[in-house]
Amino acid sequence: MIEKFLVYLFFSFALWRTVEEEPPFFVPSDWPEPSYYFEGNPLTKDKFALGRSLFYDPILSRDSTISCASCHIQFSGFTHVDHAQAHGINGLVGTRNSPVLINLAWLDQFNWDGGVGNLNGHSINPITHPKEMDNTMEEVLKRLNNSPFYKKRFQEVWGDSVIYTPYLLKTIAAFTVSLVSADSKYDRVKNGKEQFSVQESKGYRLFQQNCASCHTEPLFTSGELKKNGLSYDVEFKDAGHALISGKKRDSLLFKVPTLRNIEFSYPYMHDGRMKKLKEVLQHYSSIPKSKVSVSKELKNIKKPFTDEEQKDIISFLKTLTDKSFLYNREFMFPKEER
Ligand code: HEC
Ligand code: HEC
Repeated sequence: MIEKFLVYLFFSFALWRTVEEEPPFFVPSDWPEPSYYFEGNPLTKDKFALGRSLFYDPILSRDSTISCASCHIQFSGFTHVDHAQAHGINGLVGTRNSPVLINLAWLDQFNWDGGVGNLNGHSINPITHPKEMDNTMEEVLKRLNNSPFYKKRFQEVWGDSVIYTPYLLKTIAAFTVSLVSADSKYDRVKNGKEQFSVQESKGYRLFQQNCASCHTEPLFTSGELKKNGLSYDVEFKDAGHALISGKKRDSLLFKVPTLRNIEFSYPYMHDGRMKKLKEVLQHYSSIPKSKVSVSKELKNIKKPFTDEEQKDIISFLKTLTDKSFLYNREFMFPKEER
């Protein structure tokens, strides 16, 4: 009897340990392999937890007022619903809408213009951007190295008594790469657990015919840069990928955003110019022929969509809402003793 109990104790302890050791990242069944190079930054529960602390900590910004989460708020899919363009330090306003942070492990280019090729290095951009956190890496490292709270935790994760830039960047990436959303109604329908309504089914069919070539399932983005027919915004003069490549023909090429949790990630587009999904559908319904350049996938789009069809597509898009992601406790502001 006692032996049985001991065996039971042993296994429950082992199970508890493995549960504790697991960071929340996972690859949903039938999804493609992630493109993130996990061997270069092995995930652990502690690294994820430390990345989470940093994500929510304004210590990264020059005047300690802005954290990553100021612009990337969980319940909107890690974007910022109040602002069309990002608001950073001293209330300064950038030119672009904060993108959602969802399923980043499957992407290999970042930012609206695809200007960053590696998630590990990405955080340097917001930390040093004059309108976002306006800090220097030297200053951030100094603060972290002077903080007993962070020093101890970095030591546990990286086995080093000094915190260096790669540790910091890879730790933040351990958090952002773990933000997997794959539990929407759409996913449950695909897994045979639920069914679409008649309207959602009609919307899904229209979506597959007209949108999925760029907003490709199951990620709802092909991860590529495309022109979706938006007019050039004279206020921001944002030419998209042309700013990176310097080539005129890349003007207005933007990264195809995922549509997962799109119901809550408004406003839409790189500059947040559209507040409602209805406006998005009206846009795709009325891209002027030959006036603006569009990628080939949009040349054969059904036009215009009737009011009914627009509503059908929107009802399908709402099946991409994943409440268990938007309210996942593991991604929230961490409660911790300092
Ligand atoms: C002031 C608002 C602001 C702050 C603070 C901020 N971001 Fe962002 N983030 C943005 C904007 C705007 C973009 C798009 C930038 C672009 O396209 O040039 C972006 C892009 C990203 C991307 C690329 C996503 C994609 O799909 O391409 C990641 C990842 C990201 N931010 C993570 C972070 C992290 C981590 C922090 C904290 C270290 C942070 N951000 C701080 C506004 C912000
Ligand atoms: C040629 C590829 C392409 C096709 C086809 C396409 N889109 Fe897009 N979509 C994009 C790109 C690129 C953007 C981002 C453009 C920007 O911000 O400048 C975008 C943006 C969006 C957004 C805003 C997302 C956000 O987070 O801001 C929604 C919603 C959307 N598309 C829905 C659709 C629907 C619905 C269809 C079909 C009717 C469709 N798209 C067809 C490429 C495409």
